[in-house]
Amino acid sequence: MDYYNRKMLLKSTGRYIAPWLVKNDDLAQWMDTSDEWIRQRTGIEQRYWVPEDGDIGASDLGLEASKIALERAGWSPEDIDLIIFGTLSPDMHFPGSGCLLQHKLGLDTTPALDIRQQCSAFLYGLTTADAFIRSGHANRILFVGAEVHSPALVKADRGRDVTVIFGDGAGAACLEGVETDEPVGVISSVLHSQGEFARSLMMPLPASRITEEDVREGRHDAYMDGRNIFKTAVRKLPEVANEALEKAGLSIDDIDIIIPHQANLRINQAVQKSMNIPDGKMYNNIHRYGNMTAASIPVALDEAIEEKLVDKGSTVLFLGLGAGLTWGGVIYRHF
Ligand code: COA
Repeated sequence: MDYYNRKMLLKSTGRYIAPWLVKNDDLAQWMDTSDEWIRQRTGIEQRYWVPEDGDIGASDLGLEASKIALERAGWSPEDIDLIIFGTLSPDMHFPGSGCLLQHKLGLDTTPALDIRQQCSAFLYGLTTADAFIRSGHANRILFVGAEVHSPALVKADRGRDVTVIFGDGAGAACLEGVETDEPVGVISSVLHSQGEFARSLMMPLPASRITEEDVREGRHDAYMDGRNIFKTAVRKLPEVANEALEKAGLSIDDIDIIIPHQANLRINQAVQKSMNIPDGKMYNNIHRYGNMTAASIPVALDEAIEEKLVDKGSTVLFLGLGAGLTWGGVIYRHF
């Protein structure tokens, strides 16, 4: 079979957000923070968390988002050739949440692949799905990005820089191979990682190397050098956007909408300013959800499709940077 003309169509999307609305003011009951500080520094007004009984995992939120995406695609779970699951907050340390989701979808032996690219999960996931589809290894792929951050967030002063930022939710996308000569689907993709800076955003435990001191020192809490990540993101995101544009032979004017990861409104505003991107071309929803890591971009995409900001013929630039460090840019033309 000739796979040369096979392009990846974003057939449908779905989202599911955790049920517990936590406003900025609510956080002040656990830690020394304020609505004003959080809004000014991040743009976040609220986020949603799972209930505290510990019964909901990333695969559960992923399942709900998947059901919506599958229904919109007109697929039954049996139509899926491969599941790609992005999360940094899996249900279990192992096995991966992709396997749990596979079973919850009622599937028997469909392959499931977990990826751990954190805030860049959608970029790595989309690129991986595109490669599987173009090579003929799979034709119908379910991508899910889902996070249940809240149980592991420190609800006390010592964790306030991290805790106020993160929310729980899931986004799903049905991705399908279609034969066409048109320049559509993934037009270009640029991915990077830099383990040198792994320690600027990390959760050291659980890990294969573990000491009593690790446990005593609370190394199961997330650590973030926020200032450094902020500065790096503001520099790297325009850089990778330009790399993706150059690879595609496009200019920023050819892009209809940019859907960036939602880590901090100020980061996205700085990227917008440095690239001269007009208002309305940069999609932001962090005020509603906070940072949902692997779920942020697919949830934003689902909303942008609903708002008709992404339609047939739209050229979309996805951008993101997060733990790893990992970052990337993907240009996709919808059809
Ligand atoms: N409420 C109130 N005060 C807080 C706070 C909170 N939730 N968190 C931190 N502070 C305090 C700090 O202790 C510090 O106090 P000090 O000046 O007395 O030492 C002060 O606020 C400023 O802290 P700083 O870390 O410099 O703030 P900032 O402007 O850099 O904003 C972040 C902090 C985390 C919002 C910001 O750095 C950021 O968003 N970074 C990027 C995060 C990111 O992209 N992560 C990747 C996820 S993929």
